[in-house]
Amino acid sequence: MELKIYEDAALLASDVARRLSQKLESPLNVGFATGRTMDPLYASLLKKRPQMPLARVWMLDEYLGLSAGDARTYAHYLRERVFTPLDYPEAKINLPRLSMSHPQEAADDYEDRLRAAGGLDVQLLGIGHNGHLGLNEPGSSIDSRTRVVTIAESTRVANQGFFASLEEVPREALTLGLGTLNEARELWLLATGRGKAEIIKRFLEGEVSESVPATLLRSHPGLHVFLDQEAASLLKPVG
Ligand code: GLP
Repeated sequence: MELKIYEDAALLASDVARRLSQKLESPLNVGFATGRTMDPLYASLLKKRPQMPLARVWMLDEYLGLSAGDARTYAHYLRERVFTPLDYPEAKINLPRLSMSHPQEAADDYEDRLRAAGGLDVQLLGIGHNGHLGLNEPGSSIDSRTRVVTIAESTRVANQGFFASLEEVPREALTLGLGTLNEARELWLLATGRGKAEIIKRFLEGEVSESVPATLLRSHPGLHVFLDQEAASLLKPVG
């Protein structure tokens, strides 16, 4: 595992954006995440501007129950912040086909397409306060594949700010599974701010358990953890 701690979130964003830009210039499969943690990274990526985007891009999760054009979908988030400003070639953008008759069919189709493309080379990840990755909430197993999930109530509350009321926050989503993520060549997990310090401590130093899903991927050989000092502030000093 690579653990890198930056003085602040801006330095983290700039360094990870530089690395990400290089990956996007190679014919790889790169998975994008959403969330507030990713905002500075994507802003920084626009400044680096990958010269020739060759990577196929995928998304980690998506709400169910919103219409395709809804500005609150994760697909819209990624198009608005990354794909459209970079003029990313449409043929390289891979999204779940939520127009399929049943959401689980769309999940299976997404997993199949990703596997047929060779699986993920790099997956960006944020972390929920409860240790979720994507929307693999507590209780998710290490064998789980891309599927329809129920969003934890605490996650709905955390994401309420993007909606007019809690009632409007979807209750279900489609997420890449922990088993799917476990097969990625590299996992890049980012966390910033004091608010993430407790879950980062549990992720890196706590017991490995389905009750904190991120711990199940802690021994992944290609794990890179990028933290700012605030998110790292509760970790035991090394050495
Ligand atoms: C959201 C997303 C996750 C994200 C996490 C952290 O629910 N579905 O993919 O990693 O929560 O979000 P934030 O960066 O806003 O704290």
